[in-house]
Formats: sequence, C-alpha cells, structure tokens
Amino acid sequence: MGLLDDRICLVSGAGQGLGRSVALEMAAEGAGVVLLERNRETLAAVTAEIEATAGKAHPYVLDVTDYDRYGQIVGDVVASLGRIDVLVNNAAVNPPTRTLLDDTLEDWRRTMTVNLEAVYMGSKLVAPHMVKQQAGRIIHIASIQGFASSGDCGSYNAAKGGIIAYTKSMAVELGRHNILVNAVAPGFMTTPMSIVNGVDETTTPDFIDWYVDRRKIPLGRSGSPEDVSGTVVFLASDYCRYMTGQLLVVDGGLMSTF
Ligand SMILES: NC(=O)c1ccc[n+]([C@@H]2O[C@H](COP(=O)([O-])OP(=O)(O)OC[C@H]3O[C@@H](n4cnc5c(N)ncnc54)[C@H](O)[C@@H]3O)[C@@H](O)[C@H]2O)c1
Repeated sequence: MGLLDDRICLVSGAGQGLGRSVALEMAAEGAGVVLLERNRETLAAVTAEIEATAGKAHPYVLDVTDYDRYGQIVGDVVASLGRIDVLVNNAAVNPPTRTLLDDTLEDWRRTMTVNLEAVYMGSKLVAPHMVKQQAGRIIHIASIQGFASSGDCGSYNAAKGGIIAYTKSMAVELGRHNILVNAVAPGFMTTPMSIVNGVDETTTPDFIDWYVDRRKIPLGRSGSPEDVSGTVVFLASDYCRYMTGQLLVVDGGLMSTF
C-alpha cells in the first residue's frame, strides 16, 4: 500500500532537481505520474528511472508557457487516465540578471511568465476537471524568497510572493469543491538551480561560513530535493485532508533565526 495508490499526479519541471524527486517519490507511493518537462533528455531519464522500479510514468515534453499544448496534454491525460488528482506547479527559472537596476522589462516578464503566469494557467487548465471530480490537490512550489530577500532576485521574489498570496485565494475559491490548495517554500536547496553564473551558491566559502559554520541555517546544511519532496507527498496524501491555503516552510530552520 502506497500513500498515493492509483492517484494521477501531474508534476511540472519533473526533469531534474525537486521536480524529479517529487516525481520519483510519488511513483514510489503508487501514483501514476504525469511528467511535464521542456527538456527531452532529462524527461526521458526520469521516465526510465520510474519505470526501472515498476512505477507508472506518463512523460510529456512541454514548455509550461505553451498554453495550447498544456491544454491538449491535460485533455489527453483526462481522456486516457480518467482523472487528475494532484497538480504540482514546480517548474520555474532563476535568471542570472534579477535586480531592479540591472534587469530589463523583458527579463522581468520572462521570469513572471514562467514562475507565476504558468502557475495560474496550469491551475486554470486542471481545476475544472477537479471540480467535476469534486476532489483534488494543487500544490505550488514557492520559496522563502517569496517573503524574504537577498536583494538580488527581484522578479523571482515577486513571482514567489505572488504564488503565496494566490495559494490563499485559490484555497478559498476552490474549498467548496473539495480541492485543497497549499504551497511549499523551500529554503536553500542544492540543485541545478542553485548554480548561478556557473557558481553553486550553496558551496561558496561565504555560504559555508555564514549558513553552515555559523549556523544561520540551524540544521547546518543546504537542503537536498529529497528533504523537500516528502512534504509535497504529504500535501498530496490523505494525511493532509483538513489543511488548505497554507505555506509549509522547509528550510532547515533558516527563517527562524535573526
Ligand atoms: N534550488 C533552490 O534553492 C530552490 C529554493 C527555493 C525554491 N525553489 C523552487 O523549487 C522548484 C524547483 O527548483 P529546482 O531547484 O529543482 O530547479 P531546477 O532548475 O533544478 O529544475 C527546474 C526544472 O523545471 C524545468 N523548467 C523550467 N522552465 C520550464 C518551462 N518553461 N516549462 C517546462 N519545464 C520547465 C527545467 O527544465 C528543470 O527541469 C522551483 O519552483 C524553484 O523556484 C528552489
């Protein structure tokens, strides 16, 4: 018996990092996992990993900002698999130029389109099917950068803050249809996204000094995708059934310090 036996779970950005870990863990818990990913190679690799353990993977190459194709895929999934139980809005970008003084309107729009607008559109495409079922879970991957900032990630911060606010709005709107909407805010995770301008931000001497050695992160390390994906599985499972509109911070204690 798995926590997600026979559920159909969509995960965007499932090719690497947190999305890959969520997909693997959901499959291990018995779900049929619909993998949405723009990178064909990583999509194939995660699909093979799931199938190697007899899990159920349904891969689709998708740029989540291609809303026509996104809609076709959602229709195809409902037609072929019968339902959608869970949507995990995980795909996001972390562009290198992110400050008010240095970025451009185009940079800003690109970040907001992938990190916020596509979260709205993915939810908009899936929610009507959940309304028909009178059941569903929508889980947004936000960030601690949605409510605290290092000062160099403006558009990313704004998009993640928008997700946190929108989680509440969606939860209130969709509660009457038994659709639970929650968000997860990871702290620093070591993933391909933590590499900015060729440098892994979670391994620099400054990071180690401040966050690890001086315990700005009380648990003394950056997180791994596996540190966060269990929380996503919890939110998708029956262990979470009277909680909606919430943000779960998974940051090793970082936001509890000052
Ligand atoms: N890494 C961190 O430190 C950290 C911290 C807090 C929150 N987060 C959030 O966690 C989530 C996962 O981050 P990660 O570290 O695994 O990132 P990552 O860059 O390692 O993986 C993101 C995945 O999303 C895919 N993707 C990006 N844009 C896409 C698009 N337009 N269409 C389809 N797929 C797309 C990428 O190809 C990639 O496979 C993101 O929402 C991110 O903002 C990450």
